[in-house]
Amino acid sequence: MGSPYCVTLEDVQEAHKRIHNLVHLTPVMTCSSLDALAKRKLYFKCELLQKTGSFKIRGALNAVKSLPAEARPAVVTHSSGNHGQALALAAQMMGIPAHVVVPRTAPSCKKAAICGYGAVIVECDPTDESRTEVAAKTVQQTGGVLVHPNQDPAVIAGQGTIGLEVLQQVPAVDALVIPVGGGGMLAGIAVAVKAVKPNVRIYAAEPLNADDCYQSKVKGVLTPNAQPPTTIADAVKTSIGPNTWPVIRDLVDDVFVVTEEEIKQATQLVWERMKLLIEPTAGLGLAAVLSKRFQEKAGELQNICVVLCGGNMDLSNIDLVMQPVSASK
Ligand SMILES: Cc1ncc(COP(=O)(O)O)c(C=O)c1O
Repeated sequence: MGSPYCVTLEDVQEAHKRIHNLVHLTPVMTCSSLDALAKRKLYFKCELLQKTGSFKIRGALNAVKSLPAEARPAVVTHSSGNHGQALALAAQMMGIPAHVVVPRTAPSCKKAAICGYGAVIVECDPTDESRTEVAAKTVQQTGGVLVHPNQDPAVIAGQGTIGLEVLQQVPAVDALVIPVGGGGMLAGIAVAVKAVKPNVRIYAAEPLNADDCYQSKVKGVLTPNAQPPTTIADAVKTSIGPNTWPVIRDLVDDVFVVTEEEIKQATQLVWERMKLLIEPTAGLGLAAVLSKRFQEKAGELQNICVVLCGGNMDLSNIDLVMQPVSASK
């Protein structure tokens, strides 16, 4: 019988073979003061130190390298930034043009980086409809192939390579905590980890203000965000989709939602205690682990791997993260 999901462990293993020489094996770091706060051992998978400053290069490279040679006139995507940067670099590495549709409102550092990797930026309005429409037009105009940031199976398989590495780097891992937007990273890691070590828990971390993954799990049906969400975790405003939902429905053990305050506090903690300049989206995992609900639901688990998914922080926005944090540190 075929797999019920759009990717399999074998796809993730193939992706790893395809990309591992071209991306960094990112380090796993620890921090005893954060262990004390979390009351367990934390392992931080440092994808902020990945090429392009986020895990997104894994999926982008796997997707570009998986295209048949004759289908490589150009690649196109719509992205709030990190996938755009990643696809731009992946295309540059493979010697093909990239066109990246970006909302006008995206952080300027992300736009600059996309241009820096040689891609053409095509601006759109900050709505899902506008992104999709402008991307479709760009595909028509360029004859390029659309590489979706989180629903393309090759992208999902590429992101899953994080899971294979964590199993090697942290053999005692009991659970992984993974930020979720469109769910490409979450689904890829879940497929890989559950196939190799079914007892390892897979947890999603999501802003309360963009809680489509949580709502979908509670209702048992794909339930996208009704409105464009407002959250400091700007890389996870997207909703999960038709390819990632079945995996999330079946293989993700729980979804932890966190407030804006909790995201800010966790981001500050990583900056201060670990000296790692994560972007606020990457604060989601620690915020989830420190939440009361995590302590209640996963209290018995000792070895937790938190994926620090990116570090593309617009430095002019540091003040936004530093604004009132009430809880004690
Ligand atoms: C830094 C960062 N973390 C997490 C995500 C969410 O990834 P996914 O859409 O695969 O859930 C993104 C997506 O852009 C990202 O850039």
